[in-house]
Amino acid sequence: MVIASSESPSQSRNTVEPLLREFRGIREQVVSGPSPGATAAQHARGKLTARERVKLLLDEDSFRELEPLRRHRAQGFGLESNRPYGDGVITGWGTVDGRTVFVYAHDFRVFGGSLGEAHAQKIHRLMDRALAVGAPVVSLNDGAGARIQEGVTALAGYGGIFRRNVRASGVVPQIAVMLGPCAGGAAYSPALADVVFMVRSTAQMFVTGPDVVRAVTGENITHEGLGGADVHAEASGVCHRVFEDEETCLSEVRYLLSLLPSNNRESPPRLTAPLADGRSPERLLELVPVNPNQSYDMKAVIEELVDEDLFELHERWAPNLVVGLARVGGRVVGILANQPRHLAGVLDIGASEKGARFVQFCDAFNIPLVTLEDVPGFLPGVEQEHGGIIRRGAKLLYAYCNATVPRISVILRKAYGGAFIVMDSQAIGADLTYAWPTNEVAVMGAEAAADVVFRKEIAASDDPEATRERKVREYRGALTHPYHAAERGLVDDVIDPRDTRQALIDGLEMLDGKHADLPERKHGNPPQ
Ligand code: HXC
Repeated sequence: MVIASSESPSQSRNTVEPLLREFRGIREQVVSGPSPGATAAQHARGKLTARERVKLLLDEDSFRELEPLRRHRAQGFGLESNRPYGDGVITGWGTVDGRTVFVYAHDFRVFGGSLGEAHAQKIHRLMDRALAVGAPVVSLNDGAGARIQEGVTALAGYGGIFRRNVRASGVVPQIAVMLGPCAGGAAYSPALADVVFMVRSTAQMFVTGPDVVRAVTGENITHEGLGGADVHAEASGVCHRVFEDEETCLSEVRYLLSLLPSNNRESPPRLTAPLADGRSPERLLELVPVNPNQSYDMKAVIEELVDEDLFELHERWAPNLVVGLARVGGRVVGILANQPRHLAGVLDIGASEKGARFVQFCDAFNIPLVTLEDVPGFLPGVEQEHGGIIRRGAKLLYAYCNATVPRISVILRKAYGGAFIVMDSQAIGADLTYAWPTNEVAVMGAEAAADVVFRKEIAASDDPEATRERKVREYRGALTHPYHAAERGLVDDVIDPRDTRQALIDGLEMLDGKHADLPERKHGNPPQ
C-alpha cells in the first residue's frame, strides 16, 4: 500500500532544511574538533591534526569516515559534560594508489588522544573490517595511552586492540606511524605491527613515561632520551625508520604500501621490468674486493642489483645486516645482506633478531627472499654468549627454515661456519644458491682452521711460521673455494658476478609458481 504524501515539494524542502542545517552544524563540529585553540596548540607542538594526517596519507578525496558521531558514555571526573564527537580518534578507509587502506588516527586535542571505551570500540570495528576485506591497517599514533578517567574499561579496550593486532598479524599488513608522545598501550599496539615509523623530535614511545621512571628508579631522563625516534631506531630496534617531518613520513608510508600486497592471499604489485636500464655490471667487480678481510659497502652492491632503490628497514639497528624491500625485474623482493662495513658483517644478537623478523614479514606477505652473503661467522664473545646468541641466533635459523616463499642466495665473497648455513644455505631450504668465483666457503677462515686442526703439527715443526703459512694455503686450496662447494652440490652454480642481476631475475621468474607446504600443526614454537 502506498501512502500519498500530503506535502508539496516546497513544503517538504522547508521541513528538511532545518534538519540539514542541524546536520551541517554537527558535521562542522566533527571536522573542526574541540577548539581553534586546541588546533593551534597541536600545530605549535610541531604536529599536524589527525584529519590533516589522514588527508596526506590517502588519495585525494578518498577518505570515508566511520563513526564520526560516536561519543563516550563515561561518568565521573567531569567526563559526563565533556563528550566530543569521535571520542579522540578518527577511523575510516580510503585508497592509496587506488588500493583500499584502513586508517585510524588519534586526535591528541581530545583528552591527549587517550583511549577510552568508545575510542577503543571504533578501532576494534575498523580492524575487524580490515581483516574481513583483507586490506592493510595504518595507525597514526599520537596518544597518551589508556584514558585515566575511564580506568580499567580503557585497559580492556587496549586488550581488544592487541588481540586484533595479533589476529591480523600475517594476514593484512599493519603499519604504525608514531607522530606524538605514545605511552603505555599506545606503544604496545605498534610493537605488534609489522612496521613502525617515527618522526624525530615529536614522536616518543614508552611503556611508562619519565615521571614514573623517576619515581620508581630515581633515573632522570627526558621524553626524547627515554623513547625518542633515535633511541628506538638505534638502540631498542622498535622503530624501522625515522623521518624529519610528518609529510615525508606519510609519503613514505604510501611508498611502503606500494611494495606490499593488500593481504596474505595476494602478491605485492608487480611492475614491468625496466627495459634498458643502462647499468654497468662491471662495477660489481670493483665494489667487492677479493681480499676477504677488506671492507666495502654492501649497499652499493645492492644498488647495482635492484631496479631502483632499496627501501631499507632498521637501517641503524644492527647495521651489520642490511634488510629492506626492493624490486628486481619488476618483482618486489626482501633483501638480507651482510654488511662488511660494520663489524665485518658478522651475525650477532641484533642482526639475528632483525633478520628473523624481516624473513617472517616477507614470508607472511609472499615476498621472495634474496640473501647476499659475505659473512665471517657469528660474533664471538662473552657478552654475546651470555646475552643468548644461541637462543636469539636460532630465531634467524627458524625463520629461514620456516619460510616457504621463493628463496635465492648468493655468496659474494665468504661464508664461514654456522653463518654460512644460517644465511639461507641450500641445506636449510634455499631454492637457488649461487657463489661468485672469488669466494671462500668453509667451516671457518683458512687461518683459524689451520690453527685448530694443525696446531700440534705447526708447533712441532722447525719453522712454525712457514709451516702455518703452508697449512693455511693447503686448507684454502683444498676446502674453501666455491668449486669445492659446487662439486658437492652445496651451491647450484658458480656465476660471473656481472651475471648476478640476470640470475636473480631468471630465478625469480622460475620460482614464481613455487608452492611449498609445511606440516599441519597449530603453530610452531620459535625460540624467543
Ligand atoms: C586522559 C590524558 C592522559 C591520559 C594526558 N592526558 N594523558 N587524559 N588520560 N592517559 C591529557 C592531559 O590531561 C592534557 O589535557 C592533554 O591530555 C595533553 O597532555 P599534556 O600532558 O599536556 O601533554 P604533553 O606535555 O605533550 O605530554 C603528553 C604525555 C603525558 C607524555 C602523553 O600527558 C603523559 O605522560 N600522560 C600520561 C601517560 C600515561 O601514563 N598513560 C597511561 C598508560 S597505561 P588538558 O585538558 O590539560 O589539555 C596504558 C596501559 C595499556 O596505556 C596496557 C598496556 C599493556
